[in-house]
Amino acid sequence: MSEALIKHFAVKLIAWHGKDGRQGLPWQSIRDPYAVWVSEIMLQQTQVATVLERYPRFMKRFPTVKKLAAAPLDDVLAEWAGLGYYTRARNLHACAVQVMEEFGGRFPEDPILLEQLKGIGKSTAGAIAAFSFHVRAPILDANVKRILARLFGIEGSIQEKVVNDELWLLAETLLPKKATDMPVYTQALMDFGATWCTSRKPVCLGNEKKCLFEKECQANLSDQVLLLPRKVVKAKSPEFNCDMLLLRHGDSVLLQRRPEKAIWGGLWSLPESTWSAKEESTQSAASSRANLTAKELLQLVLPDEKISSALKHSQLVERGIEIKHVFTHRRLWMQIWNMTSSDAVKFTNADLKWIPLRELGKYGLPQPIKLLLQGLSLARGDDLRS
Ligand code: ADE
Repeated sequence: MSEALIKHFAVKLIAWHGKDGRQGLPWQSIRDPYAVWVSEIMLQQTQVATVLERYPRFMKRFPTVKKLAAAPLDDVLAEWAGLGYYTRARNLHACAVQVMEEFGGRFPEDPILLEQLKGIGKSTAGAIAAFSFHVRAPILDANVKRILARLFGIEGSIQEKVVNDELWLLAETLLPKKATDMPVYTQALMDFGATWCTSRKPVCLGNEKKCLFEKECQANLSDQVLLLPRKVVKAKSPEFNCDMLLLRHGDSVLLQRRPEKAIWGGLWSLPESTWSAKEESTQSAASSRANLTAKELLQLVLPDEKISSALKHSQLVERGIEIKHVFTHRRLWMQIWNMTSSDAVKFTNADLKWIPLRELGKYGLPQPIKLLLQGLSLARGDDLRS
């Protein structure tokens, strides 16, 4: 279900924008990073109708970053009068000075550098990079969080860091393949959140129009549209740890089909150890997890003696990242262990398979595992989504 959605999301949204998105707004056709930046900051907490009136005026008064930096702060504040949230104006001025002094008057293209500028957060940095430089950088403002939480049925509170991290990962995964599509895609995402997938009156709950995602949107399918995204932090659900093997042989990775009745039942995932309650992982348990050998790992994760001994020549490369995933009633911390196997060990067990990275798209994988492997594939130049 969400596989197809991930694959087609950008294309569908761009097509939607051509038909039903907002067209002809003055900031939509600009590519000058200075002009894009001013529009993004002004649009952040201001109604579109007000920006329509005030943006051209601001640009006329301060047509370049150089002019803005050279102006006295009081003039900038005066021009901002009536728009509210004056920190934005102070930051605009400070940022203009920074661009002049640290970047020779040219906005950097890299979102990481943009984010270091005064008043530019990660999402605004993504928007500027996408609109001005066609960089494949995601955005994640409140509108986009709402869209993604609904479409993918993300139930955790968006006030929690772990949920935000998951949303960022998703936002990254959904980007269009072609960098030249970034401006229209980013605009489409903003407009879709502002006009269709709105907080209180989303199109799917009215009877005038049909939402393009009605058959895929998890919140729509489960009648939870107005309940998502959740804001309040719920009482903490129990936390678990497990170790997962990312065992590679050449360009294949070892996957195991999960039991039908388990979480992610029937999906293909990395072989994993049994879960242990996180409270029980004392300091020493945590540090022993940090020091596992290849042999110990194999025994933990593939306890079937025949299998673990068949893989005994595998090598531990490194302790990889830890991924946290929030389920409805529990959270799981997955410690990834990167290993390699020099032999293409054959298994009699049909639930264990070496799968070439380029063929992963044919298998149903749990979302966080899919994102992890997608990262590996992209690093190799493949694209799981195709
Ligand atoms: N909010 C922030 N930036 C925007 C943009 N470019 N278009 C519409 N709404 C926005």
